[in-house]
Amino acid sequence: MKILVVGSGGREHALCWRVRADRPDADLYCAPGNAAIAEIATTIPLAADDIGGLVAWSVANRPELVIVGPEDPCALGLVDRLSEAGIRAFGPSAAATRLESSKAWTTELLDRAGVPIPDSATFEAPGDAHDYVDDSVEPLVVKADGLALGKGVLVCDTPDEAHAAIDAIMVERQFGDAGASVVVQERCFGPELSVFAICAGTSFQIIGSARDYKRAYDDDRGLNTGGVGAYSPVADADEAILQDVADRIIGPTLQAASDAGCPFTGVLYAGLMLTEEGPVVIEFNIRFGDPEAQVILPTTRGDLVAAMLAAIDGDVTRVDLAPDGSAAVCVVLASGGYPGSYETGQKIDGLDALPPGALAFHAGTETRNDGIYTAGGRVLGIVGTGPDVPAAREIAYAAVDQVTFHDSQWRTDIAATELAPVGQSKAAVPS
Ligand code: AMP
Ligand code: GLY
Repeated sequence: MKILVVGSGGREHALCWRVRADRPDADLYCAPGNAAIAEIATTIPLAADDIGGLVAWSVANRPELVIVGPEDPCALGLVDRLSEAGIRAFGPSAAATRLESSKAWTTELLDRAGVPIPDSATFEAPGDAHDYVDDSVEPLVVKADGLALGKGVLVCDTPDEAHAAIDAIMVERQFGDAGASVVVQERCFGPELSVFAICAGTSFQIIGSARDYKRAYDDDRGLNTGGVGAYSPVADADEAILQDVADRIIGPTLQAASDAGCPFTGVLYAGLMLTEEGPVVIEFNIRFGDPEAQVILPTTRGDLVAAMLAAIDGDVTRVDLAPDGSAAVCVVLASGGYPGSYETGQKIDGLDALPPGALAFHAGTETRNDGIYTAGGRVLGIVGTGPDVPAAREIAYAAVDQVTFHDSQWRTDIAATELAPVGQSKAAVPS
C-alpha cells in the first residue's frame, strides 16, 4: 500500500513510525520529512504548505492514503484538493479547520450547541472590549481570534492586565491580523487535559488522553513553546470523565460543525480544563498535538491506517483504535535558548544506546557524513514507554541521560507529581 505522510516534525516521525509498525510492507513516503524519517520512508523535497506540489505528486503517484500532520496544509485546502482529485486524504477540509483557526467562530458554535465553555464575548472594536472588562468582576483571559503560533492567549490576573492585553492584541497588533478581533473569556481554574478523538462527520472514537507542557522551564517558568513534554494516559481522565467529554463535548461539537456545513474528519484535539463544574473547552486543535502524538501513537492499539481509511469513508464506529493500557512520557531535548535564539549544528551522541522501552522521535535534526546534528529548536522527543506513567518516566529520563549534544536544554519535571527546580541547559545542571 502506498502512503504519503505530510510534515517534517517529531509528530510526523511518530506517524511514520506507527505506519511502519502496523504496515511493515507499506510503500511509505514523507514530504518533506527529516533525517530520521528518511530511514523509514522515502522523503520527497516538497514543503508541507506546497499544496500545488503535493497535489501534483499525488496525482502522478496515486497514494492510497495521504496523512496530513500539521494544520497549515489543511487550512490551505490540501485535503479538499486531494479529495477532488479522487485521492483519499486524512485530515479536515479547509472549512473545518476553523475549529482551530478562529476562536470567535468556534466559541459561537460551541455556545449555540450548549458545549461547556467559559463565559465568552467577542469584540471587533477595542473600546467595546475595554467596556466589557470594566463591567466584569471575574479574572479574564484575552485571546486573539486567529492563529498566533500558540502565543495569542493572555491569561490576566487583574483588570489592568486585561486592558493591556486588549491593546497589545487589537491596537499594537502584536499578533498581526490574528488580533483583528478578540475573545474575552472568564478565567477558569483546574488541571488541563487533552483528549484526542478520531472523527468522521458525527461518528468518533476517543483514542487517548495526554497532558502537555508548554513553558520552556521546570515549574512552568519561562516562555511559551510549541510543547516541551507530554505524557499519556492522564490519571484524571478516568472512564467517567472521558464518557462525559464524549457525551457533552465531542459529540455535540461534531454535530454542530456538521450542521454548520463543515463536517469534521480527522483527529480532533480537545484542550480542556477540569473545573469544579466539570470539563470545559479551552481550545480545539484539528490535528494530533506535537509532542502529544509521540505519547499517544505508541500507546494505542489497533490499525491506524485502517482507522484513517474508515474515517475518510465516513464512519469510525467499528474502528478498533483505543488506548492499549500502557503509558508513555516524552521529554523534548531542545537547543539551549529555545524558544528564543539558539545555535544549531551540534553533534548528537548516544542515539544508538537508548535503553529498552525508549524511542527517539526526531524534530530538528540533520544527517551529515559523520553522524546526526541538531538543526532546530526542538531537536528530539525522547519517549519512555512502560506499564504506567512512573515506569515510562524512568525510562524516558534514563534515555535523556544517554543522549547528549552541546548546550541541550530540557525540563526535568515532565510527568512528575511534584515539580522540580527550574531546569536550564545540560551544561548548567549537575547530573
Ligand atoms: P489556548 O491557546 O487557547 O490553548 O490557550 C493557551 C493556554 O492558556 C491554555 O493551555 C490555558 O493554560 C490558558 N487558558 C486559555 N483559556 C483559558 C481560560 N478560559 N481560563 C484559564 N486559562 C486559560
Ligand atoms: N503541543 C501543543 C500543540 O500541538 O498544539
